[in-house]
Amino acid sequence: MRIGVYICHCGLNIASVINMDALHEKVEQMKGVELVKDIQFMCSDVGQDALMDDIEEHDIDRVLVAACTPKLHENTFKKVLERAGLNTYLLEIVNIREQCSWVHMDHHDMATQKAFDLIKMGVAKLSLLEPLRIRKIKANKDVLVIGGGVAGIEAALTLADSGTHVYMVEKEPTIGGKMALLNEVFPTNDCSICVLAPKMTDVQNHTNIDLFTYSEIKDISGSVGNFTVKGIQNPRYVIIDNCKGCIDECARVCPVDISNPFDSGLGKTKAINMPIPQAIPQTAFINSDYCVGCGLCKQACPADAIDFNMKAEEFTFTVGAVIVATGYQGFDAKRKEEYGYGVFPDVLTNMELERLLNASGPTRGKVVVPSTKETPKKVAFIQCVGSRDETVGNPYCSRVCCMSSMKNAQMIKERYPDTEVTIHYIDIRAAGEMYEEYYVRSQMMGIDFIRGKVAEIQIDTQGKMLLRYEDTLECTLCQENYDLVVLATGMEPSNTTEPIARTLNLTKRTDRFLSIAHPKMRPVDAHINGVFIAGCASGPKEIQVSIAQGSASAARSTRLLARGELENDPFSACVDAEKCIGCRMCEDTCNFNTIKVIDGKAVVDEISCQTCGSCSASCPVDAIDMPHSTDAQIKAQIRAALEVKDEFPLIIAFLCNWCSYASADLAGTSRIQYPTNVRIIKVMCAGRVDPDFVLEALQGGADGVIVAGCRLDECHYIIGNYDAKHRMDNLKEVLEEIGLDQRRLRVEWISAAEGERFAKTIEDYVDELTELGPVGSELQGGDPDE
Ligand code: FES
Repeated sequence: MRIGVYICHCGLNIASVINMDALHEKVEQMKGVELVKDIQFMCSDVGQDALMDDIEEHDIDRVLVAACTPKLHENTFKKVLERAGLNTYLLEIVNIREQCSWVHMDHHDMATQKAFDLIKMGVAKLSLLEPLRIRKIKANKDVLVIGGGVAGIEAALTLADSGTHVYMVEKEPTIGGKMALLNEVFPTNDCSICVLAPKMTDVQNHTNIDLFTYSEIKDISGSVGNFTVKGIQNPRYVIIDNCKGCIDECARVCPVDISNPFDSGLGKTKAINMPIPQAIPQTAFINSDYCVGCGLCKQACPADAIDFNMKAEEFTFTVGAVIVATGYQGFDAKRKEEYGYGVFPDVLTNMELERLLNASGPTRGKVVVPSTKETPKKVAFIQCVGSRDETVGNPYCSRVCCMSSMKNAQMIKERYPDTEVTIHYIDIRAAGEMYEEYYVRSQMMGIDFIRGKVAEIQIDTQGKMLLRYEDTLECTLCQENYDLVVLATGMEPSNTTEPIARTLNLTKRTDRFLSIAHPKMRPVDAHINGVFIAGCASGPKEIQVSIAQGSASAARSTRLLARGELENDPFSACVDAEKCIGCRMCEDTCNFNTIKVIDGKAVVDEISCQTCGSCSASCPVDAIDMPHSTDAQIKAQIRAALEVKDEFPLIIAFLCNWCSYASADLAGTSRIQYPTNVRIIKVMCAGRVDPDFVLEALQGGADGVIVAGCRLDECHYIIGNYDAKHRMDNLKEVLEEIGLDQRRLRVEWISAAEGERFAKTIEDYVDELTELGPVGSELQGGDPDE
């Protein structure tokens, strides 16, 4: 092994604080180091060329660069290694700028000592690194889109237009989703089906799309690049290829009237029907729950399309990626008993009003009071029914209800100018392009807005509906009669999402919608590699956002599969089958469904592994490890840091790559000064920190250990920091049992933007440990082998 160490001056950024000559000299004495150079700017061509030349001339086979944060130039140096023919994973970057010279500007000696320790730790790790290789596997380029609403349609068309073969599976007999049922859509008030129907037709006609309507997914197995999808297509008892869509012929003779679910139950339809006039496919279907099998439709059909012997058909196909666009379902207004929905006939939901307003709805666009069939004179909208309401378990805002009620209120005002319309709201949420203007326009049209909760709806002595409400702007309790009340019901996760979440192992948030990999940076990625989420499956959102997410999911799928092959991350977990006892701890810990115990041994899907390392920390027999941050490498770093204890108190800090390490870098770029006592070890996630590492550090002489990760709920690996918290909480009890004060271990959640907080944490911890005294005194009292 021939290690080359390159120390960068970074102009004066490093060299003005750290004594480069002294450092150079000390590193030269280090065991295993073949060559040491200090260079003005390592990242410059001169630095890169020097490195290239040395690799060739001096047979350097492992490289340590002590310079700025690895986030800046790790890739630069990897490329140099690649050009020199060296495995690019035999490189270690030691951060002596952001985490040393810039934060200890007035402590030259201590900063020099710290830089030396950090290099020593780097060399210890580097000596144990193994060359790693990237493996490629063939990936299926086809994509499954689950759900034929507007988000799914947009995703499917974007993919199909760019040449990808798409399977779309929709549970209803038609695609179009909720948008196909709406009358007009805000903020432009254009006809919903007019803008959607052409896209629905495009889906049906596209040669790159296989459409399965009235179908269900039963199982999805496999992983990114190679998912196997199994499902069934329910019998519609009408042959799609034969049916001409002339629904009158068959429906006219059908003797069974049923309430129409596509009109929210307000209108009537027949047991054989076309869900909506613009249905895709343009094919009738027989609702088998109601059909009496009289056969009249079969006799009447001029196209011989009816087939009562039709059976559910199974389908199986493979895809490389899955887009989940299963949408939402409306809140059941009956759960808010105080509003009398289902009891008082003249209390409707917003969706029912949509169908009344719709020209192809049950009243052909006329808004009538259901009990009198007359035009309403006074209409009230009640906002936040089933949203922002802890009593029904939905504390979230449904985002569209304010705008949707304003839109429907405008429709009523336009059609019936004499009708009084009032919107009872808690807060108006009108944040979006043209939304505020829309709100103002609603006010200008004479729509009243009353701020405050509606307590209940009662029937007064005259038999009229009476609203009791609070006006929080006037600070009064009021009551008012209305002849029509519309409940702005919120959105809830669709029932159809649940089985999909189960088969794909997707995680859900506390509001029960599907969670995404990162709330800001990865808005359509699921936690499972190769699965994307578009539209309301991941929470309430407007049509335009759903469309944008449909496109985004398509783009993400294309980016993933375009080359027809996938690469593993060489840092993915690997299992020592000899040691593995098949206890399934790793399988339970992995948040990405990446590990399976097969024949009693854990097996990692290295293409899907996200490399967080939580599985490794959870393994009771150390059978699972992370290449490039193995247990042995981390312990070697710890031992190197403690070899000569040159400071008191000495702190070992395990910082997660994404947030807390970045916060330490930010402290550096902001030149926030803190004590030199900390030696940082970077891990991908706080969840990687094995309790053994903490014990190794404390028993080896560290006076304190910090485990820091992203803020809770913001871990880049879903709940890696919760895993860490759980482990460290347990470990604190163990510390006490072996005679160590629990304060020897500090757990912190620090975001990447909190450089100042990172510095303050170190400062406070140094004070606390100074008061506590050296760890040695406590260790002597306990039995470290317990
Ligand atoms: Fe920061 Fe998990 S990535 S704690």
